[in-house]
Amino acid sequence: MITKAIVFDAYGTLFDVNSAAEKCKDRIGDKWEGFANFWRTTQLEYTWLRSLMNRHKDFWTITEDSLEKSMKVFDIDMGMKNDLLKLYKILSPYPEVKEVLENLKKKKIKLAILSNGTPALLSELVKGNDLQNLFDDLFSIEEVGIYKPSSKVYNLPVNKYKIKPNEVTFLSANTWDVSGGGNYGYNAVWVNRNQAIFDNLDYKPINRVNNLTQLLDLI
Ligand code: LAC
Repeated sequence: MITKAIVFDAYGTLFDVNSAAEKCKDRIGDKWEGFANFWRTTQLEYTWLRSLMNRHKDFWTITEDSLEKSMKVFDIDMGMKNDLLKLYKILSPYPEVKEVLENLKKKKIKLAILSNGTPALLSELVKGNDLQNLFDDLFSIEEVGIYKPSSKVYNLPVNKYKIKPNEVTFLSANTWDVSGGGNYGYNAVWVNRNQAIFDNLDYKPINRVNNLTQLLDLI
């Protein structure tokens, strides 16, 4: 299989979505991790529900709406809301991300992000972590107004680069996103950082990696 573009999911794959709550763990206490997972799950549920209801709101609004619910469920002082939101804008990348991207950049294959995030959020995340020169494109679902796993989203890099779906190697740590991309026709690779269980959603990735460094052996 020829790879003409390597496309990365952003949240959970390049950037650690739990890092915002983790940076506040002294104030949140032991429940920080349960809270962070609940916030993430609620945020994703809102993306799917809004897509099905045909009532789109951008990812930043959804992040805030889901945070508010999660803070109520976990009985966290609402005074922390703005701090958590600020930290979400500057999520930390996983440690290997920069070096892997720099290595891939030498291979002259298109490198892109394809994410639920708004263009502004993605550009801030990438710039804030000094990764701005490594990507050819930051594709945001805002271009099509519906969230992953709609095929309209997975179409974006294929249309822009005028390539076939199976010429895209797509990496995501979100199992449902690997299933979405794989069903669409991508060579979807699962970044299994936490020894998780894969989904039963009609696609089983041929390639799985534990971190992005292992991707260098595949390309
Ligand atoms: C994204 C979500 C799925 O970045 O993590 O699109």
